Amino acid sequence: MTARPRILVSLPAPLHDDLRAQLAAHFDIVDMPSGSRPADVLPAGVCAEIQGQLITPHNRVDEDLMQSLPRLRVSSNCSVGYDNVDLAAANRHKVLICNTPNVLNGAVADVVVGLMLCLARNLVAGDAFVRSGAWTRGPFPLTRDIRGKTFGLLGMGRIGRVVARSVQAFDMKVIYHNRRRDEETESLGLASYVDRDTLFREADVLCVLVPLNDETRHSIGAREFGMMKPTAYLINTARGAVLDEAALIDALRSGAIAGAGLDVMETEPLPAESPLCSLPNVVLQAHVGSATHETRRAMGEMAVRNLIDALDGVRPAAMVNPELWD
Ligand code: DGY
Repeated sequence: MTARPRILVSLPAPLHDDLRAQLAAHFDIVDMPSGSRPADVLPAGVCAEIQGQLITPHNRVDEDLMQSLPRLRVSSNCSVGYDNVDLAAANRHKVLICNTPNVLNGAVADVVVGLMLCLARNLVAGDAFVRSGAWTRGPFPLTRDIRGKTFGLLGMGRIGRVVARSVQAFDMKVIYHNRRRDEETESLGLASYVDRDTLFREADVLCVLVPLNDETRHSIGAREFGMMKPTAYLINTARGAVLDEAALIDALRSGAIAGAGLDVMETEPLPAESPLCSLPNVVLQAHVGSATHETRRAMGEMAVRNLIDALDGVRPAAMVNPELWD
């Protein structure tokens, strides 16, 4: 047994040196390739000593993992989403789950706005049009205004509020649907509440910002696309599996909706053979909502702090299952 707590670090990109040094000042660090399972890549004796882990949604936190890390007490997710975590299993094993809310709100909202502009003004195709020389043979087809149109938000949490505020700059009417009404956002005049069907029917741009869980998995499908305007655009920066992707592809092919901007897909990385890659009315991004230097740095700082605090007995700033701490 080692004297200092042992932690697992499993990230797709190296942690900033100073953040790693902060961890090293408190813990013995065991590195593991992102997405791998400790029981597959680490000796059983090492697994038996791990008390904390710093991970991203590429790593699953489930019953098997907790069986293989019997001393695990804290899992610090370097992301706001925690659909990689089986929360019931975490609670059973008394594993505290931490995440990184707020610090990424602006970056994700910026991608929503970027996708909206790309879709309505066909900016990605416009770039290809100029580069290919097609412009010398005639003008680019007309696109659509977003000003004065209706922006719909499915989900009104921290990111939703920043999106609502951001699209005010485009003189859009903002409507939202959420399990709980957000009276503060409404009283600030940022968005008005509508029922779910009205949201799908009235939005010219519909942005999905609900977390992925058993209730929301594949919750937007043929029924919802059938209600949308044929001129409407769908934007998803939450999790791919919230949409029924096959139904989305049908809706995009049949013209039931005008287009989609997707930062997230059911399978990531998206293979080039996916039908989504060959649809002209889709703009795709590689799950980059939070992927700026500044935001990833802030997320890293928060995830490291959460892990140090939790294992040192200090209440962490962001917990998904705070009842365990309390
Ligand atoms: C998040 O923080 O949940 C982002 O989507 C990155 O995974």
